[in-house]
Amino acid sequence: MYRKTMAAVLAAGLAISVNGVSTYIPAQAQSAPASSTAFDNKIIKKISADNMYNTIATLSAQPREAGTEGELIGAKYIKGKFEEYGYETELQPFPIYEAIRNNVSGTLEINGQSLNPYVFSGSYSGEVTAEIVHVGLALDGQVPDNVKGKIALIERGGITFVEKLQNVIDKGAVGVILYNNAGTGNNVGVADPGQNIPAVSITRAQGLALVEQLQKGPVEAHLKVTGSGFVEKTSYNVIASMKPNKNRDNGQVVLVGAHHDSVSGGPGANDDASGVSAVLELARVMAKVPTDTELRFVTFGAEEKGLLGSYHYAGTLSEEEADNIVAHFQMDMIGSKDAGADNPAGGLIMYTIDGQKNLVTDLAAAAGARTSEVIPYGQLGRSDHQPFHELGIPAALFIHSPVEPWYHTPADTIDKIDKNKLQQTAEIVGASVYQIARPDTPAMEHARVAPGPVPYEFEDRPVQ
Ligand code: BES
Ligand code: ZN
Repeated sequence: MYRKTMAAVLAAGLAISVNGVSTYIPAQAQSAPASSTAFDNKIIKKISADNMYNTIATLSAQPREAGTEGELIGAKYIKGKFEEYGYETELQPFPIYEAIRNNVSGTLEINGQSLNPYVFSGSYSGEVTAEIVHVGLALDGQVPDNVKGKIALIERGGITFVEKLQNVIDKGAVGVILYNNAGTGNNVGVADPGQNIPAVSITRAQGLALVEQLQKGPVEAHLKVTGSGFVEKTSYNVIASMKPNKNRDNGQVVLVGAHHDSVSGGPGANDDASGVSAVLELARVMAKVPTDTELRFVTFGAEEKGLLGSYHYAGTLSEEEADNIVAHFQMDMIGSKDAGADNPAGGLIMYTIDGQKNLVTDLAAAAGARTSEVIPYGQLGRSDHQPFHELGIPAALFIHSPVEPWYHTPADTIDKIDKNKLQQTAEIVGASVYQIARPDTPAMEHARVAPGPVPYEFEDRPVQ
């Protein structure tokens, strides 16, 4: 398959022909091409940071929380732009469920002492008395069997609350106490519909005290929650596709994504109107170049609610459709003046779910070398590259880290956006996408003028 061939070419080095003699250059020995190629220029010279900036200004005029009118206005605007550029588009609705929180209450009693927990099982009502079992982070495949019939004590971190809750429900737990991994708060979010056991969360200090008590012997807890149900809302993905000419079509698809929803009350200029602006700009530029690969641009809804839009979209793909997708480029928070600290390339980094290089990172590191700077890679989820990775598709998140202080606040506004950062990221992703989609690959990979791979490093950089 092409997906493997391309990666293999990049990993193995290049076979080139000099004066009729075939020479093999190992990947490590190739030096980074100093400047963009004629192929890159077909894309990158046309990218306009002003266009991106204007898109962000339009989208961030109001919050776009999933399931609200603001999201729908944003989604329709994006769809209209894709149509203007000549794409086949679809507004893909999907249901999301929000707990009605105004009548939720709960109690947690341990050894006659009453704690005042946050109720995490927002819709469910129930009561249980059982022994507590500490199950650590409750990561996939790591929950002990002895939690059956017991209340699971879980530490926050690593995966989502909903996943943790599901992992212990699957092992037969009858209640959950989740404790924070930092700070003094106890507010963690809300369980999914159908996760019907009492679940509460407590502060880190309370959790650690409980862990200590458990080391001395068994502890029993009485847990009671009163929930008030869910309300169903609709969120949307916006999908735009352009197929190559039939006689050139190799059946492959490249995905370029961002999320258009914001947090409640946040204008989300950087998170993630910035990513959407680059998706739209690349769609505009790439609509005019011939390809042999389908270009599919998607903006996801309800990312902030737990990657719901990208999981929904990934779930609609048949096995064959998923198999034809050779790469997913996710752009999320790519324009903040105040992100990236003093790191090179303004802090731009590529995160993969497993912390391994893949086709996307290989291509983008090389494209960085040609267009501006080589960018490093690291390991992180927290965005819409996750579901595609789970389908076996090479995927990476492009983001500036560490993130800005305005992250998820009402101050995530257009005045904090840096056009140079938008331009650099769009160029790197655009040149990488075109490297796959241009009609002369993979034959081109063996030509003398073919762009080669570059060395690039893993970085364990904190994001916040
Ligand atoms: N853009 C962020 C992802 C992010 C934020 C990555 C900060 C690195 C540092 C994204 O929109 C987000 O906020 N994701 C959620 C997780 C999601 C599963 C709800 C998050 O990180 O809390
Ligand atoms: Zn985001």
